[in-house]
Amino acid sequence: MKSYTNVKDLGNLQAAVKEALEIKKNRYAYKYIGENKTLLMVFFNSSLRTRLSTQKAGMNLGMNTIVLDINQGAWKLETERGVIMDGDKPEHILEAIPVMGCYCDIIGVRSFARFEDKQFDYQETILNQFIQYSGKPVFSMEAATGHPLQAFADLITIEEYKKKARPKVVLTWAPHPRALPQAVPNSFADFMNEADVDFVITHPEGYELDERFVRNATVEYDQMKAFEGADFIYAKNWAAYKDPNYGKILSTDRSWTVSEKHMAVTNNAYFMHCLPVRRNMIVTDDVIESPQSIVIPEAANREISAQTVIKRLLQDDK
Ligand code: CP
Repeated sequence: MKSYTNVKDLGNLQAAVKEALEIKKNRYAYKYIGENKTLLMVFFNSSLRTRLSTQKAGMNLGMNTIVLDINQGAWKLETERGVIMDGDKPEHILEAIPVMGCYCDIIGVRSFARFEDKQFDYQETILNQFIQYSGKPVFSMEAATGHPLQAFADLITIEEYKKKARPKVVLTWAPHPRALPQAVPNSFADFMNEADVDFVITHPEGYELDERFVRNATVEYDQMKAFEGADFIYAKNWAAYKDPNYGKILSTDRSWTVSEKHMAVTNNAYFMHCLPVRRNMIVTDDVIESPQSIVIPEAANREISAQTVIKRLLQDDK
């Protein structure tokens, strides 16, 4: 694996999950594989879980780790070519990236969608610049259109908790006061479409995701109907994808907030969310605190998904 930006980079997904679960049993089994190697984690946006879990994953593999917050202490970066740099950005990303590549062996990048230019976001301009110009293996720590470390952890969690061979998994939109990217639902859909699950997406009209991620999923606009018989409920907000509303909030309808009323029609479903989560917007206190909430083990599996990916990048970078 030369880079990790989506589910296809994992190859056989069942084998990847099996490998992850083996790593989870003994996460220090490969503690020499990253000896004298440096992991650089570059953040253009805030993080709690990704920062901690990915750094821990690198340390489990014996790596040195460096974290760079672009917006705290680094020079502000210009990202567009052709710009006359007479403003507040003293460095261009096309010099900064190869310089970063000089100091490390693997680079993780977090760079969210900006919602200024759909093409810039959906071409994954920043992530692809790192892949093209760093000279090092690159993995996504949530980019403009995907969060594959999160979705891999989500699949590992479903594998651990499922009670039937082919569970029903429902991705539900839920309200939020700010416009959030589609990266998490896109990647979750990408992974669920490759997994052995019945996959349903529910959201208000206007919140349709990119067809390249929806693929074979059933789209159901009636949230309660979608929840019937579900084994896993995965809640997430996202802003509109479709033009002319790209990046806009179309609804804050709190009848979509996942509550006990919603969970009552499921098959005693587990509740999942990538976190951070806004309580009583996305999900009620009662549901997230219930025994069926698996948001903490889900977050814990971020260390395992990251370690599996970094291990593969190290092994293939010979
Ligand atoms: N789920 C997730 O990526 O969390 P952070 O934004 O805190 O890293």
